[in-house]
Amino acid sequence: MGALAGRRILLIVSGGIAAYKSLELVRLLRFEKAAVSAVLTSGGEKFLSALSLQALTENNVATDLFSLDAESRMGHIELSRAADLLVVAPASADLLAKMAAGLADDLASTVLLATDKPVLVAPAMNVRMWVHPATAANIATLAGRGVHIVGPDEGPMACNEYGPGRLAEPPAILAAITALLSAGPLAGRHALVTSGPTHESIDPVRYIANRSSGRQGHAIAAALAALGARVTLVSGPVALADPPGLSVRRVETAAEMLTACEAALPADIAVCAAAVADWRVAEASGRKLKKEQGRAPPALTLVPNPDILAALAAPGPLRPRLVIGFAAETDDLRDNAEAKRRRKGCDWIIANDVAPGSGIMGGEDNAVLLISEAGVEEWPRLPKAEVARRLASRIASALAP
Ligand code: C5P
Repeated sequence: MGALAGRRILLIVSGGIAAYKSLELVRLLRFEKAAVSAVLTSGGEKFLSALSLQALTENNVATDLFSLDAESRMGHIELSRAADLLVVAPASADLLAKMAAGLADDLASTVLLATDKPVLVAPAMNVRMWVHPATAANIATLAGRGVHIVGPDEGPMACNEYGPGRLAEPPAILAAITALLSAGPLAGRHALVTSGPTHESIDPVRYIANRSSGRQGHAIAAALAALGARVTLVSGPVALADPPGLSVRRVETAAEMLTACEAALPADIAVCAAAVADWRVAEASGRKLKKEQGRAPPALTLVPNPDILAALAAPGPLRPRLVIGFAAETDDLRDNAEAKRRRKGCDWIIANDVAPGSGIMGGEDNAVLLISEAGVEEWPRLPKAEVARRLASRIASALAP
């Protein structure tokens, strides 16, 4: 309790059935001692009364851009000036589109255009609206501009459909807010983290993959965010939820992962925890390969994938200050990992033994060596989240002024 004491949050509530959950968010924020003021869009007003918001925030609720009274007292510029963070929850497809286009035709969109403060959006909408290319493009535009995104969650929806589009739960939104406002040692730093496997197509239904769960990479991304870093997580296909408060780019192939990483630069820190497929099929078939009686199985010709870690670690103006790779080895862990550090040009290698029976790949724990120019450190077997926390705090010390 009190983690957000002295912090000022401007909550913008737009239209949608999930608007009622913003009341719970206000309650959680007030419990953490944040000062909350609110803007209710005209859509939001259809689902939620300004009076409820006012009662819970213990503040005036602004609704109308052209209310002379409101303009003389606060004004749209003043509203954002008086906040440390703007939170849009729920963020409707319409408001996200306005933000992406830079429209300013009501109080909420005007405040969002006029602000120079960090912005966190929690989208909520019908699944088809969420997966529509227009919304996807708007989200990509906003993420590219540094807008933080939490959710949406996947699950049953008020419209009797199932899928992604549900507002993130208020505790997850609170966690994202707390991470963004933390004055941690990595505040102001941008960290790029790759995680998960990649899938390399054989044909439209088959692919080459590996057993990476993404647990370690996702945990590192969350741990860096918990120390105040702005984190871009580029993830291959995983069954994990997006950690709250991060910009998550989901990709399938190594080539897409490299493009997403390069688009996320500049970064101060790069942690390549993804198990990138070393090879892809030279010419993936555009049609499903047929199994025909008496015919030999198809031969797959493989070609090497780009090495993302080596690309990020290569000298150049955009090279992150600290580039960290992973080495999963089954033999001669130390020697192979040190050789890999030199070959790839990265600063640190986190080496782990993935011999069969170690239970590391896809498991809950990890036992690693941290290999740097300075030598080798052996860490005890720890839960992956704890390995992530230790690594994040080592990163913070390495970048400390
Ligand atoms: O060469 P190897 O796959 O053993 O190297 C592992 C490290 O290199 C990991 O940090 C992994 O994320 C990274 N890597 C990469 N792109 C590749 C292959 C590996 O970023 N194509």
